[in-house]
Amino acid sequence: MTTQKLWAGRFQNPLEEIIDNFTRSSSFDRKLWRYDLQGSCAHVLMLEQQGLLTHHEAEQLLQGISFLHKELTRCETDNDWKEVERQEDIHSYVEFKLKEMFGPVADKLHTGRSRNDQVAVDTVLYLRDQLRLMDWRLRDVQRALIKLADRDIAITIPAYTHLQRAQLVSLAHYWLALYEMFQRDRLRLKDLEKRLQLSPLGSGAVAGSTLPIDRKFTAKVLGFRAPTANSIDTVGDRDWLLEFLGNGAILMTHVSRLCEDLILWCSSEFNFIQLEDSLCTGSSLMPHKKNPDALELMRGKTAGVVGNLMSALTLMKGLPSGYSRDMQEDKLFLFQTAETLLGVLPVLERVIQGVSVNREDVNAAAADPLLVATDIAEYLVSNGVAFREAHAVVGRMVQEYLKTRKPWREWTVEAFQAYHPVFRESVFEIVNPDSSLRRKKTLGSPNPDFIRQKIKELDEELQES
Ligand code: ARG
Repeated sequence: MTTQKLWAGRFQNPLEEIIDNFTRSSSFDRKLWRYDLQGSCAHVLMLEQQGLLTHHEAEQLLQGISFLHKELTRCETDNDWKEVERQEDIHSYVEFKLKEMFGPVADKLHTGRSRNDQVAVDTVLYLRDQLRLMDWRLRDVQRALIKLADRDIAITIPAYTHLQRAQLVSLAHYWLALYEMFQRDRLRLKDLEKRLQLSPLGSGAVAGSTLPIDRKFTAKVLGFRAPTANSIDTVGDRDWLLEFLGNGAILMTHVSRLCEDLILWCSSEFNFIQLEDSLCTGSSLMPHKKNPDALELMRGKTAGVVGNLMSALTLMKGLPSGYSRDMQEDKLFLFQTAETLLGVLPVLERVIQGVSVNREDVNAAAADPLLVATDIAEYLVSNGVAFREAHAVVGRMVQEYLKTRKPWREWTVEAFQAYHPVFRESVFEIVNPDSSLRRKKTLGSPNPDFIRQKIKELDEELQES
């Protein structure tokens, strides 16, 4: 059986079940119920103020909305959405339920409103809440990173480019690199909040209303700065949703790349780190396995989040201006991305807390003489050799090293001088991996003094944010 429709008046025959089922969105847009009720409250208050509802009518509707709040809270607790899902969407559910309770007064609720502006306002309100939660979660991840940075200042590791050993950094420097990525994610999401400050409510279906709908009033009640400027633009605008999905995709890309680092680092081939046993899973077949499934799944879930951005862009690209029903699908992408992010971030925080370092293997990797090749070239530059020449000189030394595998500290000064006369005893300080970081001078480099200072600053920044 098809359900009652808000728009049935114009039709001679009821909607066929096959189309009814196909067009329904209540199974997912029910997630907007809180915001739908908020929007309806603001709308009722405004209708009363504008004389479109009597005080008594407004009271009745507000009482009904408050009852529905309890009812829908119950549905959520019991995960019982049968009744809601019988309706076309959450907006229809609210209206029909009020009608059931109060009769004709519910028929006035939708005065000067369309589901097109209603769904936009609900979704913006939903997203505003999600952004707040995400910011908290990201901050928690950043806290965990600062803690590790503080712990790992003295641990020197190879940094990689092209996944080939490049130069020395500290592990703290790596954790702080992740901090910076997540800081940009937080700033991007905060910036998006600026574009969620205008209320769509009162734009109607596409052309506003001849009734005295006070959009400034509802905007204020709902915590918006002002109403949006143009009714056509408003009901067809999903830029904010695309932006969120884009920001989410970038954030998940960060998560995915860091997961990839940690997955590599806990392989036997690297063996730089270990994850607590309680954070790993085993194999049903191979008794020895300890797998970083949580990391792999976070990397895997990035696919869905990136896909949601592509889906939403594709959804929007061919739509004519104004609202089209295609836009109903946007919520699937939005909810999935928001839920994935909020599910992933606490897992990430916990996994980060559970990382311990295998000092021996890390030290062995950091002792690779090639990791200070650039330091040696810069030593030559400090002694007056042109960089390109220094590069070539050390390149030839590297060739010899690759043949003999004799580390620099076992070379004689004369052996160095055979490559360039400016080499002195002091080169032995340069080739010591522990001194490389202390000698870094550039801002943003892994000099331990900079790192300590940065950790202090970030710690304070986090207290405040
Ligand atoms: N369920 C719809 C959506 O999510 C609500 C708006 C429907 N508007 C309409 N005129 N059919 O977009």
